[in-house]
Amino acid sequence: MAFENNDRVIVVDHPMVQHKLAILRDKTTSSKQFRELVRELAMFEAYEATRDLPLEEVVVETPVAEATCSIIKGRKMAIVPILRAGLGMVEGVLDLIPAARVGHLGMYRDEETHIPHEYYAKMPEDIAERDVLVVDPMLATGGSLVAAIEYLRKQGVKNLKLMVLVAAPEGVKTVLEADPDVVLYTCAVDERLNDAAYIVPGLGDAGDRIFGTK
Ligand code: URA
Repeated sequence: MAFENNDRVIVVDHPMVQHKLAILRDKTTSSKQFRELVRELAMFEAYEATRDLPLEEVVVETPVAEATCSIIKGRKMAIVPILRAGLGMVEGVLDLIPAARVGHLGMYRDEETHIPHEYYAKMPEDIAERDVLVVDPMLATGGSLVAAIEYLRKQGVKNLKLMVLVAAPEGVKTVLEADPDVVLYTCAVDERLNDAAYIVPGLGDAGDRIFGTK
């Protein structure tokens, strides 16, 4: 399904990203290469997700003359991976934003109500003042990401962006409806979810492929 970019869903359609995503999807790609690609894609996506950072002018002395340059205007950022697969994206974002703090959020789904709850949360203490990038490679039903959004809003987070690699249309709809301000970055919006809540065509179980488990 072709998905139109809009101001809340940004599909990162750069040729390098799409090329790497094709290799990521391939079932013959090794765990080692899969992990490297997740990291690289997360870095490219973070590049897009930080495009609106405010700049300020500074004067730098080059070996030749003074140059008026732009630097990022003191924004504090945090990366919040959803355990476990989100961990695979953290290093890629840190490659671009080395000063970012990292919070961790673990979710489990209640067997009876099917509602996801956090079982582990460890955030930087000033999380409310930080611009937060939530990372999770797969946006399937959207349940975990909605729970993550609710958790972070309760902590006072105002600027919240979601970064996934592959999304299902059902999940996109769910997260956008859950929060009027959240913005989603993804490399692809696929066809649908199957009965087992896997994304079709997707890439399988991202956590298992990152960590070489089954
Ligand atoms: N989580 C995954 O890892 N893959 C899917 O297709 C859906 C959820």
